[in-house]
Amino acid sequence: MSKSYIPVIAIDGPSASGKGTVAQIVANNLGYHYLDSGALYRIVALAALEKGVDWQAEEAIAKLVPQLNIAFAQGEIYLNNSNVSERIRTEKIGQGASQVAAHPMVRLALVNLQHSFRQTPGLVADGRDMASVIFPDATVKIFLTATAEVRAERRYKQLVSKGQKADYQKILMDLQDRDARDTNRATSPLIPDPEASLLETSELTVEEAVNIVQATLLKNV
Ligand code: DC
Repeated sequence: MSKSYIPVIAIDGPSASGKGTVAQIVANNLGYHYLDSGALYRIVALAALEKGVDWQAEEAIAKLVPQLNIAFAQGEIYLNNSNVSERIRTEKIGQGASQVAAHPMVRLALVNLQHSFRQTPGLVADGRDMASVIFPDATVKIFLTATAEVRAERRYKQLVSKGQKADYQKILMDLQDRDARDTNRATSPLIPDPEASLLETSELTVEEAVNIVQATLLKNV
C-alpha cells in the first residue's frame, strides 16, 4: 500500500499543551501508531550532552543522529538499548531539545526516521511541524493549544502528583522562554499550519479534546 493511503492525524502545539496525552489516547482508541517527535529532539539533546557535544554545534549534532539507535516499545523510550524515558523529561533536556531543534541540519537528519512511523492502520503524530513539514498530506491537522498560564498549571500539577518539587512562576517563565524560541526560529517555527483546525483546550477536559480530534477524523475520511 502506498504511504499516501495510510491516514495520519497530525497534532501540533506548544509545550505542555496536553497534545501528547490527547495524541496517545486517540492512537490507543483507534489502534494507530504514535509518534512523539518531541521525544526525538529530547533524545538528540541527551545524546549530545552525554557525548560532550555542545547543543549549539549544529553539524556535530546532525552527524550524531544517524548513529543513534532509538526505539519505542510498550510506552518506554530507548537510546542505544538504555531506557531513557525518565531522563529525557527533565527541564534541562527540554531546554536542550529546544536548542538542538532550532538547527536545520538536525531537523533534516530526523525526517526519514519520522516518516518510518507511518504504518498501517494509521499514525497519530505529535509535535510542532507534523502538519506543515513532516506529513503535509496528513488526513487531519490539529493545532492544540492552551494559554501559557493553564499549561504552566497543568505541568505544575503533574510534577506535584509525581512527588517532585515545583515552582509555578519558574515553570511559567520557562514555558514562555521555550515558546519564544520555538516560535521565532527560522526553520519550522511553531505556527499553526494554514490547513490546521485550532483546538483551544484551556476550558476542555482531556476527554472532550479527544472526542473533538476523533470527530474531525470522521469528517475527513
Ligand atoms: O514536545 P516536547 O516538549 O517534548 O518537545 C521538546 C522540544 O523539541 C521543544 O522545545 C520543541 C522541539 N520540537 C520541535 O522543534 N519539533 C517537533 N516536531 C517536536 C518538538
